[in-house]
Amino acid sequence: MSKKVFIETLGCAMNERDSEHMLAELNKKENYSATTDFKEADLILINTCSVREKPVSKLFSELGVFNKSKKEDSKIGVCGCTASHLGEEIIKRAPYVDFVLGARNVSKITEVLHRSKAVEVDIDYDESEFAFSDFRSSTYKAFINISIGCDKQCTYCIVPKTRGEEISIPLNLIVNEARRATSKGAKEIFLLGQNVNNYGRRFSGNHEKVNFTKLLQELSKIKTLERIRFTSPHPFHMDDEFIEEFSSNPKVCKSMHMPLQSGNTKVLKDMKRGYSKEWFLDRVKKLRSMCPDVSISTDIIVAFPGESDQEFEDTMDVMRQVEFDQVFSFKYSPRPETEAEHFTEVVAPDIASARLTRVQELHTEHIDKKNSTQIGNVYRVYFEELFNDGYVSGRSDNNIVIKIKGSDEYLGEFRDVQITSIARTVLTGEVIK
Ligand code: 5AD
Ligand code: SF4
Repeated sequence: MSKKVFIETLGCAMNERDSEHMLAELNKKENYSATTDFKEADLILINTCSVREKPVSKLFSELGVFNKSKKEDSKIGVCGCTASHLGEEIIKRAPYVDFVLGARNVSKITEVLHRSKAVEVDIDYDESEFAFSDFRSSTYKAFINISIGCDKQCTYCIVPKTRGEEISIPLNLIVNEARRATSKGAKEIFLLGQNVNNYGRRFSGNHEKVNFTKLLQELSKIKTLERIRFTSPHPFHMDDEFIEEFSSNPKVCKSMHMPLQSGNTKVLKDMKRGYSKEWFLDRVKKLRSMCPDVSISTDIIVAFPGESDQEFEDTMDVMRQVEFDQVFSFKYSPRPETEAEHFTEVVAPDIASARLTRVQELHTEHIDKKNSTQIGNVYRVYFEELFNDGYVSGRSDNNIVIKIKGSDEYLGEFRDVQITSIARTVLTGEVIK
């Protein structure tokens, strides 16, 4: 009989893909199948995120809950970015944890399983060419890693310490993976990396030098592949060539994530982001002029150490000028082993909260304004999710979530949908073609 594994995945899309890889390895080599009930699991995995402090502190209370109610002989493994940065400390604080597996050691999952109290957290470990077994949680959309690690030195960010140096995955492996996914029914792929538009800067083996533009061009040749998305690009690497390929390649979805972080050039410098307010606005202008329907999403950190009221106003100013389609906003959270951890000009918590509220309120205004013009618009939607209330949902090319009344017959299909009603994050429509 097959054993059961329960995985809780926190954090980003890269973590989701890592969880798929772990499930695939466990299934193929150890005969595990997935369960959504941890109480019946033989193995419980938490794939953690450490980008902010909150999820890290929640980890130990969650581990306690798992330990109390789990099946008697079942094992608990802590994986992902918090595993990388806390390592052995996790077993010291929660001695019932059976193993700790860092974000760059995913391929060792079937090995640590059999070693009592194993801790594998080497951030120099190179998995860029590891042939993971195949598993995808969605048939319709395939996550594909194009690089591992991150070479940027953003002063607030823990990721280089949890995922190590950046290494690109060879072009032929990515193309083969995309071919396999499309032959199994995925018409959309989602390319993943910490800095996707820095693709090709370094490979671990001796591979042909190719950049991100070339990667997009090669993937576009796959006939059965209709849509390509990617995350996350870095504004610093958004040169004209990149924007031109993005705009002119019909298979590349017109949705761009442009993580601003701050709209103030001095704060950006303190963050070591490598661009200024003006560069960011210039890139948005170029993008919008070449691709008027593009939707732009962003990440914003408020209350970075030393951020004055006036500097914060620059972030609001960029928001007003760009009117982002989606904003992920965060209060700065000091992280261990980062440069900013030692910055002393801490912004008071009440000021940080007030700034976050202002960012969120301004964004809501922008969304309401945009949505008010949506009724009657028609979008080509690729359907990928079924709900049990009689609806299916999908995304437009420019990343708007749209749902219609319908069943699984729509999954993996494209339809033209006319918008009939609006809510803040989801639009509802009717199929017209
Ligand atoms: N504090 C708050 N937000 C952070 N992010 C990364 N590090 C921190 C931090 N120390 C945010 C950034 C990044 C997103 C994934 O998380 O906005 O783009
Ligand atoms: Fe993803 Fe960063 Fe969180 Fe790691 S720390 S899971 S890379 S968001």
